[in-house]
Amino acid sequence: MHKRNKITVIGAGNVGASTAQRILDMRLGDVALVDVVDGVPQGKGLDLLESFPILGLSGDIIGTSSYDETAGSDVIIITAGLARKPGMSRDDLLAANAKIVAECTKQAAPLSPDAVIIVVTNPMDVMAYVAAQVSGFPKERVIGMGGVLDAARMRTFISIEMGVSVENTNAFVLGGHGDQMVPLPRYSTIAGIPITELMSEDSINGIVERTRTGGAEIVELLKTGSAYYAPAASAAEMARAIVLDQKKILPCSVFLTGQYGQSGMYAGVPVALGAGGAEELFEVKLTAAEQEAFNASCEAVKKGQESTGF
Ligand SMILES: NC(=O)c1ccc[n+]([C@@H]2O[C@H](COP(=O)([O-])OP(=O)(O)OC[C@H]3O[C@@H](n4cnc5c(N)ncnc54)[C@H](O)[C@@H]3O)[C@@H](O)[C@H]2O)c1
Repeated sequence: MHKRNKITVIGAGNVGASTAQRILDMRLGDVALVDVVDGVPQGKGLDLLESFPILGLSGDIIGTSSYDETAGSDVIIITAGLARKPGMSRDDLLAANAKIVAECTKQAAPLSPDAVIIVVTNPMDVMAYVAAQVSGFPKERVIGMGGVLDAARMRTFISIEMGVSVENTNAFVLGGHGDQMVPLPRYSTIAGIPITELMSEDSINGIVERTRTGGAEIVELLKTGSAYYAPAASAAEMARAIVLDQKKILPCSVFLTGQYGQSGMYAGVPVALGAGGAEELFEVKLTAAEQEAFNASCEAVKKGQESTGF
């Protein structure tokens, strides 16, 4: 009999539980939801299972503190770790989260040796590197989620500013998922037209800045944690591209080996996502200023990577 797809979500907090819910709603497969806090994954898992009769879902969701139940997963999404509080940068989470991500990867990867790992935990590009080192998986099967969210935020702001349907918008964001990310207005469009043709420089600068600080904006509002609805939708979108082998081009954090003039670190670039993970990387021409901004973003990630000791 054909085996159903299986997706493991590690960390049953705000992002993890919302990601599990999205994945179930999208009918991508069975879900194993793991957390260290006993009772939380079990409770959320059972709660989600009890929504199946109403939503007409079948398949399975299991909440657990044991990695045994994750065996044979096609996709592993790592959301375990601390989230930002007001005033904190993503990098402030580095040391504590590196330990957590290493621990989760060490337990999950051997049980699902063919899986694609999607890393969400911040600082995400550095954490993707940690997961890649600890799992020993080929780098194309360890991918970070950041660009999908950053591009979604930029699209939202373009749509608000121009008063047009968000469906008509496209956004392009490169680089690390940190304060130095590189939104690229020249490659961001409304109905295929670059926004540089349609909007004033001031409006564009405002959108670029709001995209860069989009995470912090939510942290300041929530005060007790960081964003999770859009991050969960982003992680689920990546899981769908992998599970359905869509070859969908999405901005993802991948290990660079010379692309865009950079190598040896994870950074966000456009990638075709399919069953094999990051199956193809796409390079576009950058202006000198864009390249400089991309290099600075990559340098910041590299520094973080080196500080982890992995
Ligand atoms: N990449 C992105 O775009 C993006 C977006 C949003 C959030 N994040 C990051 O995602 C992470 C999770 O955010 P959140 O809002 O869900 O936080 P949260 O505090 O709600 O949930 C984190 C969960 O991780 C669990 N956890 C901690 N250590 C663990 C371990 N060793 N094994 C298993 N589970 C463990 C905690 O018990 C908790 O339930 C944070 O690092 C946050 O910064 C990234």
